[in-house]
Amino acid sequence: MKYERPAIEPPETGYVDLHSHYVPAVDDGVRSHEEGVSLCRGLAEAGFSMVVATPHIRTAMFENRRDPLGEAHRAFCAEAEGLPGMPVLGLGAEHYFDDVFWRLFEQGEALPYPGGKSALVELPRERLPHGLAQAFFRMKVAGVHPVLAHPERYRPFFESTDAMDPLLDVGALPLLDVMALTGKYGKAPQKAAERMLDEGVYYAACSDAHRPADALVVAEAIDLLEKRVGTEEKDFLLHHGPRDILAGTIED
Ligand SMILES: [Fe+2]
Repeated sequence: MKYERPAIEPPETGYVDLHSHYVPAVDDGVRSHEEGVSLCRGLAEAGFSMVVATPHIRTAMFENRRDPLGEAHRAFCAEAEGLPGMPVLGLGAEHYFDDVFWRLFEQGEALPYPGGKSALVELPRERLPHGLAQAFFRMKVAGVHPVLAHPERYRPFFESTDAMDPLLDVGALPLLDVMALTGKYGKAPQKAAERMLDEGVYYAACSDAHRPADALVVAEAIDLLEKRVGTEEKDFLLHHGPRDILAGTIED
């Protein structure tokens, strides 16, 4: 059965999380339905009124495809959505940038965010892939904004953001993983995240939560984010930015 994308809109209030792993047993995220529900409720308590699952699609590691992921998400939602304390649930994917991703994208088999206006892309940690800016440009031309997952975790951006300029020039939208601010991924990603926040590089922020226990770390990280950038910018990154990304209405 082909995955039919449900038409969902974010609620008017609350944060929108564009990166999380609450679909049970499809990647390195939660392992059970109960864990998935617990994670979603925890993120709702941290302030998220909508949480988009982004299971990994990564060759030789997580050989996921659109239709089975759509079915797994639909099955999770069928039991979870009516429970108290749940946010609105949506589905995208965290696409690892390689030839397979590109083939899936060109064949219309990738999993962009609900609404189809943007898609989440993960890069290798150590170096930027050849042809990345051209690929992002072609995504943009095809009407899909490339959203760059956790740039603070990639070595080329540890010390400087200069290497990101060609990607920003073609419309890449950097998405902060807020937990980086707590030092969860080490000192270098934490420092890079702080620097890129100071530089105003990010378009939005997310949880990238994989476990129910992550929700508490995310809440702590949102406090650190607010201390760093102030309430207005924190609200842009968690409220307006993600909604723009879903709607495809990107501010210059
Ligand atoms: Fe992720």
